[in-house]
Amino acid sequence: MYICVCQAVTERQIQQAAQDGARSLRDLSRDLGITRECGRCAICARQCLKQALADCHSADVALYENNSLAA
Ligand code: FES
Repeated sequence: MYICVCQAVTERQIQQAAQDGARSLRDLSRDLGITRECGRCAICARQCLKQALADCHSADVALYENNSLAA
């Protein structure tokens, strides 16, 4: 799904940016161009980033727990 229509940025691209280190709307603007034109995507992009970061954190915790159990 497109989050930023002006820059043709998808939810998946935001998830990838989060995995690559994006932590704020400013990071998304710098890396993907989000909010550089009309700015209507700001709220949705922020929510998408927040969810992507939560998912990254959950995946890290699961990986850590799996590695801890394996050790
Ligand atoms: S929808 Fe993102 S800048 Fe317009």
